[in-house]
Amino acid sequence: MIHDATNNMSWTKKHLLDIESLTAEEILTVLDTARGFKAVGERAIKKVPALRGKTVVNLFVEPSTRTRTSFELAATRLSADVINFTTEASSLKKGETLKDTARNLEALNAELIIIRHSASGAPHFLSRVLDAHVINAGDGAHEHPTQAFLDTFTIREKKGRIAGLNVTILGDILYSRVARSDIWALTKLGANVTLCGPATLVPKTFEQMGCRVTHDVAEAIRDADVINLLRIQHERQRKTMFPSIGEYTQQFGLTKARLAKTKPDAIIMHPGPINRGVEIDSEIADSSRSVILEQVTNGLAVRMAVLYLVNGGKSVANPAN
Ligand code: CP
Repeated sequence: MIHDATNNMSWTKKHLLDIESLTAEEILTVLDTARGFKAVGERAIKKVPALRGKTVVNLFVEPSTRTRTSFELAATRLSADVINFTTEASSLKKGETLKDTARNLEALNAELIIIRHSASGAPHFLSRVLDAHVINAGDGAHEHPTQAFLDTFTIREKKGRIAGLNVTILGDILYSRVARSDIWALTKLGANVTLCGPATLVPKTFEQMGCRVTHDVAEAIRDADVINLLRIQHERQRKTMFPSIGEYTQQFGLTKARLAKTKPDAIIMHPGPINRGVEIDSEIADSSRSVILEQVTNGLAVRMAVLYLVNGGKSVANPAN
């Protein structure tokens, strides 16, 4: 049976590569541990010694604002030494391979390597060639596991549970790693997941992941407890998937008129970056219904929990001690 109650199972995985391979209990272990770290973040002294003496590398080979900065802050709050690797200033530009780059970082005693890469499977590849712990910060259109943790953490915080909730993910599902990780996490935790968007971006094959697919936006959001919007991932699309941005907004954008026909307590989520006036009306993004910035805040606690657990942290109830 799937449940939302606090559980006391310890984490045993060396890496965090995806959500697909995790059990509901492992996901809840991360969420419960993150709750403890969120409380630490509300204290006057926000640092704990959990990773003192450890070196964490942020190996971001693709752009990021939220994920990179929150992993950096999370590692700092855990007292680790942090190296921020940027592609533009690296020898990747001179033709060095990802494997050689990562092995050189490991030779400098990097014990935890956080990787974002445009190629699906890059973190899995590194986990096979390195001794370091590898954490996936987004690989191509495959997975973005810490986004799924912060999304489910936020939903549980706002709604008190996940099992039985109606969660609609609206937008470009096909090219979204966030969608895939969210679908795995939400279905494992017992939510009813509906996917909606243009047929070219939301194929029926996604039903194999245990969710419902519809192309009728009014119907998709009417009974939703959570509406999670995704931007169009232009950087991953290899052909035109719909006639124009204007038409997309008209057909699938969350406008005030559409929002008026949803449950009054439905929350609006978005992993960011948002494209105001495209997938979301600008006023809605800034409204009290939006939890977009709370998601970002929760991302810090969740990433502290992931670094802590992957490094062998055991105490779920009070990770600050
Ligand atoms: N949600 C997310 O992954 O944002 P960034 O690309 O800014 O890290």
